[in-house]
Amino acid sequence: MAGDATHTHWDSNISDHQKLSRMLSKIERAGNGDTLAPLLSDFKAFLRRHFEDEERPNGFFDSVTRAAPRHAASLATLRAEHREFLERVAHLQESVGPGPISAETRSQVAALVVRLRKHEALEGQLLMDSQSTDFGGGN
Ligand SMILES: [Fe+2]
Repeated sequence: MAGDATHTHWDSNISDHQKLSRMLSKIERAGNGDTLAPLLSDFKAFLRRHFEDEERPNGFFDSVTRAAPRHAASLATLRAEHREFLERVAHLQESVGPGPISAETRSQVAALVVRLRKHEALEGQLLMDSQSTDFGGGN
């Protein structure tokens, strides 16, 4: 049963991760504040839903915690990062106005993109690890 829940999560997670990656590329390439502001607003709504999905009962965190409790510390860090990422996007939204994007905002965007990609990669690793624990451990 735990395997089924993890499997369902795996599928929705892959499409979410692809979407997130595409959004990050667009955000990185935004040429000015007029382009960046709506991208950030879409991105914040997407992230909020994506994080809620990962944190919901039987979602990513529950599935990995059940299958691989040894990852508890990493999971706690990932969960805390969700809050932090939402705050950072909100902060960027406040600092982005029409016209050119400041060097400071650009470097904040770049840093956020790097951290989010790392975050997603670690989640992917934990999910794969918990899957192999799930299927390898029982037989
Ligand atoms: Fe996450």
